Amino acid sequence: MDPAAPIPLARPSIGEQERALIDEVLGSGQLSRGPMVKRFEAAFAEFLGAAHAVALSSGSAALHLGLKALRLPPGAEIVTSPFSVPATANMVLAAGLKLQLCDISPVHLGLDPPQVACTITDETAAVLPIHVFGQPAEIEALTDVCRIEGIRLIEDACEALGTRVNGKVLGTFGDLGCFGFYPNKQITTGEGGMLVTDNAELAERVRLMRNHGRSMDGPWHDQQLVGLNYRLPDLSAALGLGQLQRIDEIMQRRATLAETYRRQLEEVPGLRPVAAEDDGICWFAWVVILDPDLPRDQILTDLHDRGIQAGRYFAPLHQQPALAPLVGDQGPFPVAEAMASRALALPFFNDMTPDQAERVCETLRSLIERYR
Ligand SMILES: Cc1ncc(COP(=O)(O)O)c(C=O)c1O
Repeated sequence: MDPAAPIPLARPSIGEQERALIDEVLGSGQLSRGPMVKRFEAAFAEFLGAAHAVALSSGSAALHLGLKALRLPPGAEIVTSPFSVPATANMVLAAGLKLQLCDISPVHLGLDPPQVACTITDETAAVLPIHVFGQPAEIEALTDVCRIEGIRLIEDACEALGTRVNGKVLGTFGDLGCFGFYPNKQITTGEGGMLVTDNAELAERVRLMRNHGRSMDGPWHDQQLVGLNYRLPDLSAALGLGQLQRIDEIMQRRATLAETYRRQLEEVPGLRPVAAEDDGICWFAWVVILDPDLPRDQILTDLHDRGIQAGRYFAPLHQQPALAPLVGDQGPFPVAEAMASRALALPFFNDMTPDQAERVCETLRSLIERYR
């Protein structure tokens, strides 16, 4: 391999298993509503230890239908984090609910439970934490807050497949958990998502709503709910099932890569790894937080110039032109703003080699030295 070849921020790794399953679907001629979707769902539910898994066309679709299926009062407040991709906020709005933002903790970059407790009002129907970069929000404390308040908990675990907290996998703590399989994720289906829940009624509603309110196998003209087309195609399900069959290997590779980054960067002045340790975390991205006096955007440009596709990651949602007028004066959210301006996501993917990681660390180290 050319040692100077560009290193992408993320890249899927597709194995023989996935190709064989894709061939199986192509050979069957059943490209939608076929058995591969059910096989993927069953394997996913088993991996998570959830009673039900419903395959959908994206992580956003999982968030959207999850919020709809809970049948919350129209306009009810959903407490969520400004430190996320636009999908979380967009889906709250698409479900006809009110976005109520709350600041994050600088430790795990997820919703801060004491601040959440203060943000909840009589109009709050649910809390929607985001497990960013694969790192868990304080999910046990958030579960307690929701139980005490008698409100719902929806986990945006789109970036956190495989991460465990005290032996329990993320996505299974709340009323429902949402996963996304965009090609930068731990496993991919190209585009796709999954909703998991232990609530049979909720799962059934989501199953109907993903297919215009109709059963996937029942009479085609029997529409029971208002819904959308959020079906996952069988070719995508085949890719997902093949990836899931390799999940142990994928998690091991990501753990090894995280360990390499941590070892090489831990002592570098001017930055800190996003989490104090990697225990139980299946990283989606490996992120460092730069000291505030370092020019993060210039360092990003310099990395790009050297063929290293690092990323800045989240832009605070409340500062986005589309959302600012809706959020109004809910802020400021100083931790989310500071973290968004200092976070640097390093290339991180299953097939990344130790040499590539070494080159990233060496280049970053020299740039930090230059700007300190
Ligand atoms: C935290 C988070 N939430 C939601 C989503 C939305 O997933 P999708 O792109 O599959 O709609 C993503 C994916 O980018 C994400 O990272």
